[in-house]
Amino acid sequence: MTHRILFVCLGNICRSPAAEGAFRARALHHTTDSAGTSGWHIGDPPYGPMQKAARARDIDLSDLRARQLVAEDFDRFDLIIGMDANNIGDIEAMRPPGNESTVRLLTDFIPHSRANHVPDPYYTRDFEGALDLIEEAVAGLDAHLSAKL
Ligand code: 4NP
Repeated sequence: MTHRILFVCLGNICRSPAAEGAFRARALHHTTDSAGTSGWHIGDPPYGPMQKAARARDIDLSDLRARQLVAEDFDRFDLIIGMDANNIGDIEAMRPPGNESTVRLLTDFIPHSRANHVPDPYYTRDFEGALDLIEEAVAGLDAHLSAKL
């Protein structure tokens, strides 16, 4: 079954494009996109240090451009995945009445995870740690969706 999955973070230049890139590299048959809850970086490519760290793991983010989450995304995507609790609050605040899309944290898909969010590497500068969590989570997401076939 093909799912429509939207990855969401604050700026749409670090965590959500990395999650989109890591997921699409392993699960080609789904529709994927990413967006930011803010409009701060609209039109920008993923942040250079994140692109570089992802590239070293064979994840190419160079074609992605930032955009802001819009209400229509709730109709276009059946699974919307945030990186931290602030993202989830901002996403839920935009949910149109009657919409039933699933909204989850990315770390929910890491089995027995110690992490309950993906720390923002734009501030922590820990791009490797963020990518470790993201890669583990998208593997879990892929397994979760495959099991639902
Ligand atoms: P992201 O990281 O939400 O993972 O894309 C950020 C990138 C930029 C900013 C904040 C978070 N910013 O304040 O510009």
